[in-house]
Amino acid sequence: MICSFCPRKLDFDPLAVPIPYHHSNLQSEEMIYYVSGNFGSRKGVEVGSITLHPSGLPHGPQPGLAEKAIGLHETHELAVMCDTFHPLRLTAFARDLDDGTYWRSWYANAQDGDAAEGADASGAGLTSHL
Ligand SMILES: [Fe+2]
Repeated sequence: MICSFCPRKLDFDPLAVPIPYHHSNLQSEEMIYYVSGNFGSRKGVEVGSITLHPSGLPHGPQPGLAEKAIGLHETHELAVMCDTFHPLRLTAFARDLDDGTYWRSWYANAQDGDAAEGADASGAGLTSHL
């Protein structure tokens, strides 16, 4: 399944949180390529990033982003998502592209390059910068 995230108006209800909520894809893998714009519902991505959320991995706005989004009325992000209905297997080349930081972006106190003590990165997402 291919989805395009294009510049658009956001939910305008004054009590709305206008960015995607936390969720898990239970029977698909989710790969997103970030083309242009500012990705308000994500930390740790930039133009040219690719993220992979494996099947079953809960994901959504990182700490603070839902609050920061309140009052936004539009987004200018452009990204393409590919959801597969069979597991993706990373090639050695794809593994080498992993910058090793995206999975840490959900830790509230994470700093650039600051790993959570004892945390395990296996299967927790991938960000690549092409
Ligand atoms: Fe998702």
